[in-house]
Amino acid sequence: MYVCICKSITDKQIRRAAVNGVDSLIELREMLGVSAGCGSCASTAQSILDESRNYTRPSVYVPSPA
Ligand code: FES
Repeated sequence: MYVCICKSITDKQIRRAAVNGVDSLIELREMLGVSAGCGSCASTAQSILDESRNYTRPSVYVPSPA
C-alpha cells in the first residue's frame, strides 16, 4: 500500500529500509524521501518503521549461567 503519496513510497519499501538499518523517520526521509513533501504520511511511516524494528529485532532470552 502507498504510504507516501507525494513520493510514491510503499509500506514494503519502508519495511525493507528498516531491515537494512534505517532507524528513524529522519533517516527514512533521507533515504526514500518519505515525509519530505506535505508531511501527512509521517505518523503512518513512523508506525510502520516501529513495527518493523520490533519485528526485525526481537528480544532474545539469554539464560544466566547456573
Ligand atoms: S504523503 Fe508523504 S510527504 Fe506527502
